[in-house]
Amino acid sequence: MTRKLFVTTALPYANAPFHLGHIMEYIQADIWVRHQRMSGNEVHFVGADDAHGAPIMIAAEKAGITPQEFVAQIAAGRKQYLDGFHIQFDNWHSTDGIENHQLSQDIYRKLKAAGFITSKTIEQFFDPVKNMFLPDRYIKGECPKCGAKDQYGDSCEVCSAVYSPTEVINPYSVLTGAVPVMKSSEHFFFKLSDEKCVEFLRAWALQDNRLQSEVANKCREWLEGEGGLGDWDISRDAPYFGIEIPDQPGKYFYVWLDAPVGYLASLKNYFGKIGRDFDAFMADPTTEQIHFIGKDITYFHTLFWPAMLKFSGYKTPDNVYAHGFVTVSGEKMSKSRGTGISPLRYLDIGMNPEWLRYYFAAKLNAKVEDLDMNPDDFVARVNADLIGKYVNIASRAAGFITKRFDGRLGAEDLDAKELMQTSFAAITEVKEFYEAREFSKALRKIMEVADHANQYVAQKAPWLIAKDPSRDEELHRVCTTALVLFKTLSVMLAPVLPQLTQAVGAWLNCKIDRWDDALVPLQANHQIGEYAHLMQRVDIKIFDQLFDAPVVEAASTPVAAAKISASSAVTPAPRPSPSNGEGEDGGGIEALAPEIKIDDFSKIDLRIAKIVNCEHVEGSDKLLRLTLDVGEGRTRNVFSGIKSAYQPEQLIGKFTVMVANLAPRKMKFGISEGMVLAASAEDEKSNPGLYILEAWPGAEPGMRVR
Ligand code: 2FM
Ligand code: ZN
Repeated sequence: MTRKLFVTTALPYANAPFHLGHIMEYIQADIWVRHQRMSGNEVHFVGADDAHGAPIMIAAEKAGITPQEFVAQIAAGRKQYLDGFHIQFDNWHSTDGIENHQLSQDIYRKLKAAGFITSKTIEQFFDPVKNMFLPDRYIKGECPKCGAKDQYGDSCEVCSAVYSPTEVINPYSVLTGAVPVMKSSEHFFFKLSDEKCVEFLRAWALQDNRLQSEVANKCREWLEGEGGLGDWDISRDAPYFGIEIPDQPGKYFYVWLDAPVGYLASLKNYFGKIGRDFDAFMADPTTEQIHFIGKDITYFHTLFWPAMLKFSGYKTPDNVYAHGFVTVSGEKMSKSRGTGISPLRYLDIGMNPEWLRYYFAAKLNAKVEDLDMNPDDFVARVNADLIGKYVNIASRAAGFITKRFDGRLGAEDLDAKELMQTSFAAITEVKEFYEAREFSKALRKIMEVADHANQYVAQKAPWLIAKDPSRDEELHRVCTTALVLFKTLSVMLAPVLPQLTQAVGAWLNCKIDRWDDALVPLQANHQIGEYAHLMQRVDIKIFDQLFDAPVVEAASTPVAAAKISASSAVTPAPRPSPSNGEGEDGGGIEALAPEIKIDDFSKIDLRIAKIVNCEHVEGSDKLLRLTLDVGEGRTRNVFSGIKSAYQPEQLIGKFTVMVANLAPRKMKFGISEGMVLAASAEDEKSNPGLYILEAWPGAEPGMRVR
């Protein structure tokens, strides 16, 4: 039976370009959608920009444009990513579109009529200069637990405490610096605590295998935890970029109310374009509504969203599938630390988008697990599996068909009957894996078939048969069989590699659009095209361009410039040229840097660090990876260009000095969270050594060096 599917991915905030995490989610959903289309199901796959909220309003103001202009600029940049990675949404819309205004207000009105909206007056911090209520993130001050300065209004980055903005000591507004005042205002709440709501959510979330088990367990905790569910504050006061609450001038929906409604709005907008009836489609009980999301927003999608839909009389989601985060070489990507991989850069430097699709697919499963992108692993999967196992089959057989048989296929090799049957049988299994979002299992199965196909080709050795003209027919059979197997593999890979497999279809002169296409035989005499190389191998060196090149710390800090070189980078830090020329012959030491005040020095936070581990860095002839304990209850990872001077085991257990407040830097091998100090001579010829500092006994990790 043909299924009717409405599929979405989370709507990205329209305040920044896509990062790799977005692309991963879209690729995951796109693969699943393509599989559904290959199965003949009706799929509508839509996305949109999440346009509203205070951060976007404030960013637009800073940019000197209206929020509408701001989000339009961001929206204009989306296509190049989506097209670039072969992500085929049917529609891309905005939560600021007319459909979303109407649908959000309609849902609200229905919730209100059903008794699920309540209001109460609450007190909140207000910026008297800016004349607006301040979201927690726009308040900073001293942490009420540890006293650290400049902490956000909801949590402390130093001691990880979580608190309410009213507990912050000496609070100030991030927007104006003004001291916020408490001000009261009426807010509207969705009655999530209503017994009917809790009962519904329990049934919705915990039955029918609707959610992954990890997510269902989380929901159970939320539903059954102490105090249960609280009512949800869905309103914000003007000024706010959002959708006005009906009959409540100056009040807007909180962005998280109208954001998921944007899924429906994008579908409605799309149906408007193609002349389909949105209401009828949504009212059809056989329509399946499926959301792909990141694990950080499950709360919104598994509690608020289904409850909102249910009690406003709309269809509730059938499945919500959460995925983990993308990490790079084991490190969490973070925009603020500048450690993400730019997807556009990936494309700009000529990396093949289908390498990335293949790599993500090879690592994705149905669990809520993080996915690590690692250059060596990436190269291995693409070169050894995708090219070495799959593409290889075509390149070994194609030339003979063209040159010796005029591009016409022959009969299949009866010796390979079993192999053919196994490859067809694999399709059923592979389809099931795609269906269950077990993409890594699907690819493993496909590569298993590719292994068998390669064994067949290796055993038959067409390049040897070709030497004997009397064995032409055998050569024809073997090469034909290899290409038939290649076609089967291509069909199985089509959801992951749409462009490559379309090229294969064009070359083999056959359709690769549906699962059933795998069963359409390539008859004897079938004419194929001229073989053109299908895909390049990936060269590990290209990752140097993808990642920011490790920055060599110029000895810009006074301490480093004086005599001690900062050595967290790949080479001994370049020494500054003397500012006055006097240093050149001044007793053989490097010229002193310009004089500084004690305040300048105290900006540099030097700490005693215990080297708890030290190891070589694969692929680097300059760096050692240090694991440092600076007394923070966690360790830090620091790369140091001292490989030429020390063996790792010499350093383990030593106490040294590090710059602990240096902004983390992304390097090819991971993130360096600070740097250790090392002494070096200016004239490397007279003394090429690098000497790290060692603390006297009694110094402890975390002690400040002043
Ligand atoms: O977390 C985010 O990036 C949100 N913009 C996701 C919204 S998903 C849906 F609700 F629109
Ligand atoms: Zn704190």
